[in-house]
Parts: sequence; structure tokens; C-alpha cells
Amino acid sequence: MLSASPDDALAPDWLEVPADPNELPTAVWPASARRDADGELELGGVGVAELRARFGTPLYVLDEAEVRAHAARIRSAFDDAAAAHGTKARVYYAGKAFLSTEVARWVTQEGLRVDVCSGGELEIALAAGVKPSRIGFHGNNKSVAELERAVEVGVGTIILDSAIEIERLGAIAERRGTESRGFRQRVLLRVNSGVHAETHDFLATAHEDQKFGTPLEAAPALVARIREIPSLKLRGLHCHIGSQIFGSRGFAESASRMIELHAALREGGELPMLNLGGGFGIAYTAADDPTPIEELANAIVDAVARECEVRGIPVPTLAFEPGRAVVGQAGVTLYEVGTTKEVSLGDRGERLYVSVDGGMSDNARPALYGSQYSARIASREGTGAPVLVRVVGSHCESGDIVVDHEYLPSDVTPGDLLAVPATGAYCYALSSNYNTTPRPAVVAVRDGQARVIVRGETLADLLSRDAGIAAPGAERTGARTGEGEA
Ligand SMILES: Cc1ncc(COP(=O)(O)O)c(C=O)c1O
Repeated sequence: MLSASPDDALAPDWLEVPADPNELPTAVWPASARRDADGELELGGVGVAELRARFGTPLYVLDEAEVRAHAARIRSAFDDAAAAHGTKARVYYAGKAFLSTEVARWVTQEGLRVDVCSGGELEIALAAGVKPSRIGFHGNNKSVAELERAVEVGVGTIILDSAIEIERLGAIAERRGTESRGFRQRVLLRVNSGVHAETHDFLATAHEDQKFGTPLEAAPALVARIREIPSLKLRGLHCHIGSQIFGSRGFAESASRMIELHAALREGGELPMLNLGGGFGIAYTAADDPTPIEELANAIVDAVARECEVRGIPVPTLAFEPGRAVVGQAGVTLYEVGTTKEVSLGDRGERLYVSVDGGMSDNARPALYGSQYSARIASREGTGAPVLVRVVGSHCESGDIVVDHEYLPSDVTPGDLLAVPATGAYCYALSSNYNTTPRPAVVAVRDGQARVIVRGETLADLLSRDAGIAAPGAERTGARTGEGEA
């Protein structure tokens, strides 16, 4: 039998042997997560055994109250920070983190706007009843059809990403202008401030050698061009420095640079808005220590206000685009353990591989970014001592890792439900059908009730797309059906 030791050579430095491997660290789990008298995990007042019985596994569980609480807290943080400097803040929920009509409704009811980055996300936001004027539309290569649709429905702000897109949107908006005289599409210009976010390299989007936005030096010419086009109304600049950022330094530095550019460009015309993007980090494991959003909001808005004072200009209306910080902590993925295997690496130590019935198709982040997660036995409390485990999926890929390093009770066994917290952002959104795997359902929990908000795919859904399969069976495959609730 394996057992943990604090100097386990296979364990990373940041991972501590927990005093209690059944504990649910509050920084990582939704506030509603608790164990009942028998040790079973409850989320939003619903036991995981009930969730498994009704919806199968794997299953994405989203805690509605947790999403609403984060949305409201983030909005207040930026409202208060802006008000302290006599300006206003607008908070857009970055729908790329997770978008469904339900979630769009929750966040808009909490006072957020919605940022979309594809025609598909736009349709979800519209179907949810989000006012088009409260939608922002992003993307480095929006298609003509997407831009036409955005203009037609009256999207409030389109964030222009390149010189080519300026001309493309100008022509589309002009055509709309001939139908409804005087129409002008409101736009921002996305600029790279050059600040490298202190985060995983693939997530740091504001340095120059990447596909998004325009370099600082190129911005004045593009702004001048936008101002020449009568069908476009320039509202201001946009910048997003990266994702999963913990400290405020990168944001503050980027904000200062953006204000320098903003101040120079104000001389050529009004520029009432500055959008500083999203990227506010969350805790994926107990070792993560993100800066509280109130502190980040104050540091960013203070930096903007300081720079405006130096330049003698008014503080613009500020906009922000949090995605992960709104939904990340509200999501928990439930899996069933299928097999376990002890691996001994001689002097380097031992670990237990725990295979679950999902993997990189429902959470691509460990494979894409080397992201770390944590896990707990959910159907009961384990009784064994903590052992070092690697939770892996069922896909035909050795990089199919769900949780790279964790300590679980040594008695973790086939049939146990395993819960992985902090999976609300960029898990369902990045999911795939790798190995012809149907996507799991998304179930919302609240006040002891659970309901499907995105139906799980069935094998029949997937097979029906293969032109060589004449009449795909309509039979459902249990686990991924969202049975009885769709
Ligand atoms: C332009 C823009 N805004 C906002 C976000 C949301 O980032 P996060 O979910 O880290 O807050 C992203 C993420 O890629 C983005 O590209």
C-alpha cells in the first residue's frame, strides 16, 4: 500500500500533504460545497449521488448562486473603484469562458454586459435576451457574415482588431447606414500594450509576436483611419494582457501605457472609453493565492487615474471583461473512478494512477496549458492515509491528465465518484469529441434543485454526422444523456 511522505520526490514543491484529504478548501470550492452526515459531497444543496443517478457521469455541475455572487462582487468592485475617481465602470462577462442562455441571464441579471467572440456566442447571448446594445464583439478574424449579423442586430460595441477589419466593417456599416440614415457602428480598437502578463506563455496575449490586436506604435494611424470612416464611431481603445493573472503589477503597467496613448489620441477627437480586458486569476488548487478582485480593481483604476492626472485629462469610462473569475469557481466536474494502478519509480517514489470516465475531451486545459487542478472523493469520505495520485482520463493519449498531482485517501477505489473543482471556465467551452466521446451535460444546482442547462450529447448525436451511417440508432448511452431533464 502506498503512503505519502512530505518529501515525496514525485510531488511538486507547491503540493502539501493535506492533514485531511477529504477537506474542501474554501478558496477552490463553491461556497455551497459541504459534506453531509455520511460524508457525501453536496453542491447547491444537491447530493452527488442524486446527481449521478439522474444525470450520469462525467457531469459538469454549475452552482448558480456562486456564479451570481462572483458576478455581483466583481461588478461592485469595479463600480466602487471607478466611483472613487469620479468615473464609471462597465463589466462585460467574457462568454468564451462558458456560455449558455442560462448563464447569460444570470450574469446580466447581476448587472453585467456580455462579451462574445464568435457568431455562435452572439446567437446564444441574443437567445438569452441580452440587449444587443450591451454586447461587445471580439475576434481577430470575424467573418463578413458575423460582422453583418452583429451590425444588423445592433451589437453595442465591435472591437476592431486589424486594418483590414476596419475597412471590412466600415463597408458593412455604411450599407446599413443607407437603410437607416445616420447609423454609425460604435467601435473600439484593440491595442497590444506590450506588457507580458506573468502567466503561462500561451495565455499572455499582449506581447507583440501574436495574432491579436495592433501594436502601440501602429494605433495612431489606425485610429485616424477609423475617424475618417463616417459609418464608424470610435469610442476608445481596448487592451487585454492575458489570463489567469494573480498580481496587479501587469494590469497597472498596461493601464498606464494605454492612458499615454489614449491621451495622445484624444487630441484628434473624443475618446470616452477605455476597455482593459479580463484575465483575473482564480485558485485551482489550495496553493494558488489570487489577489482579491477589490484589490485588483483599486490598483488598476488608481493607476489609470494617476496617469490621467499627470496628463491633465479626465478619467475615461472604464470597461473590463472577466470570464474565468465569474464562472471558474462555480463549476465542479463529477467523474466515476474506473481503475486504479500503483506505479513505483524506484528511488523517485510511487504514485497511484486513478482513471476516470472523462478526461481531455471535457477538460483540455491540463493538456493545453499544463494547468493544475485538485480533486476529492465525492461519494463518501475516504478513510485511508493520503497518497500521491495522478488522475487520468480514458482517452487514448498519455497526456490525457485530469489532475496531475494530488493527495487522495489511499482507499480510493473503482465506483467512487471523484469531484474536480474550479472547472466552470474553459472546460465545457474547450470540450471536444476526441475518441468519439459525447460531451457531458451541464447541470445547474441551486437551493437543493438540479436542472440541465446544456443537454449532454448522445452517441447517436455523434454518429448521425457520419455520412456513412445510414440510420443512426436513437438509443441513448446512459451516462451522457442528461436523461429525463433535457
Ligand atoms: C479579449 C479578451 N477579454 C477577456 C478575456 C477573458 O479572460 P479571463 O477569462 O481570463 O478573464 C479574454 C480571454 O481570452 C480575452 O481574450
